[in-house]
Amino acid sequence: MSQARLVVDPAFTVGEADPRLYGSFVEHLGRCVYTGIHEPGHPTADAHGFRGDVAELVTELGVPILRYPGGNFVSGYRWEDGVGPRELRPTRLDLAWKSVETNAVGTDEFCAWTRRVGAEPMLAVNLGTRGAQEAADLVEYCNHPGGTTWSDLRRSHGVAAPHGVKVWCLGNEMDGPWQVGHKTAEEYARLASRAAQAMRLVDPGIELVACGSSGAGMPTFPEWDATVLEHCYEQVDYLSLHSYSQERNGDRASFLACATGMDAYLDTAIATADYVRAKGRHRKRIDFAFDEWNVWYSQGEAVERDWEQAPRMLEDQYHVADAVVVGTMLISLLRHADRVRIACLAQLVNAIGAIRTEPGGPAWRQTIFHPFALTSRHGRGEVLRPSITSPSYETAEFGEVPLLDAVAVRGDDGVVVFAVNRDQHAALPLTVEVRALPHLSRATHTYVGGGDPLAANTEAEPARVVPRTGESRAVDGGELAITLPPLSWNLIRIT
Ligand code: AHR
Repeated sequence: MSQARLVVDPAFTVGEADPRLYGSFVEHLGRCVYTGIHEPGHPTADAHGFRGDVAELVTELGVPILRYPGGNFVSGYRWEDGVGPRELRPTRLDLAWKSVETNAVGTDEFCAWTRRVGAEPMLAVNLGTRGAQEAADLVEYCNHPGGTTWSDLRRSHGVAAPHGVKVWCLGNEMDGPWQVGHKTAEEYARLASRAAQAMRLVDPGIELVACGSSGAGMPTFPEWDATVLEHCYEQVDYLSLHSYSQERNGDRASFLACATGMDAYLDTAIATADYVRAKGRHRKRIDFAFDEWNVWYSQGEAVERDWEQAPRMLEDQYHVADAVVVGTMLISLLRHADRVRIACLAQLVNAIGAIRTEPGGPAWRQTIFHPFALTSRHGRGEVLRPSITSPSYETAEFGEVPLLDAVAVRGDDGVVVFAVNRDQHAALPLTVEVRALPHLSRATHTYVGGGDPLAANTEAEPARVVPRTGESRAVDGGELAITLPPLSWNLIRIT
């Protein structure tokens, strides 16, 4: 039987994992907001109409930052529609998702709810149909203490203290032909630069995310990214990256290896930003906000429907293999923790969500919820770069790929290894060498997978896929022997 080996040594570090790596995303899309996080009249609803059962799951998921309100939605959004007395808010057509938007939830409700679930808001401004002025007005509405038209308007809505929104996205996927108001790199860069300048004049303490190309597969990548940074380098802090994966034509072997593609995407984006840095003789370094990533099957779902409020759309049901892939994507993000500071699982509820709900009914954890929640809980601290020796397998998309993917994080009470066995049929015996950390003596093993790769959680069977506890093992002679089940995501805590 083939063996894998992992050497963990605190001398080889990547960097500190920013807790914001474990962010997520709430878009006005399908039922993410309405009957997702917000459902007045639901038995668990709070005084503000937000579902208590969903809030509990969001807290359990462990998301320190939440991006809002889009996504594609933001590119046609007038933020003023979503503030003030509900009965005066207009109902609009949402052009991005061919839906009807009531504006019952807007910036004030979202920011307050976000803080209640223990997260900070990350707001996107509309650079599709709007410009620098409206973006600066929103920063003033949210972050200025008072004594001006916009800040006093917020106060008149019962929000005396500023929301203190730190991270702002300068539009969304502006290179995508599907984006309302999409632009060339030059057009976007000039607008983003003007918006950034105005927004920072309102609040110099904010951090700004410029749109990178909306995916590694875009013909604009990486030229768009270089052009945008050439115009805005000194004005922004992060470049955004997006990546969605799916199993295509039954090729699970390639799907399981998609973090290889994510690694390459990140490496190219980093090289591009550093090239612009060198070319422009800039001192500061641009980091990355990987502010949309997930598995997404319903990507091709045509937006051919009647205008409907909160339609059921993009409600992918995730299975075990998806959970394992989400685990590998988290490993890829951690591997780049020195440059990726923010990442957002897209999305939080219902629309490609980690959580599913039924109106008036229950909320449950999708399979992908589990590796995410456990990585968020245990992946805090200093990311280590382990040396990996692993048998490999052949994939159509990425060539030869190791069966084992892994990363280690050193926290207060020891080391946590996140490891994936991509072998669909056989267990993978793994030796973890921790000789350089002689105080470590015992390990516990938790895993998702090892059974039916198509098992999923549903309303009828919400706990079919849950993390399982493996054996607790002693470190012997600086080594730990553990067996990773077939097609599994694993968490090994060595204390
Ligand atoms: O997350 C769903 C959509 O995917 C977002 O609205 C958009 O930014 C991306 O194309």
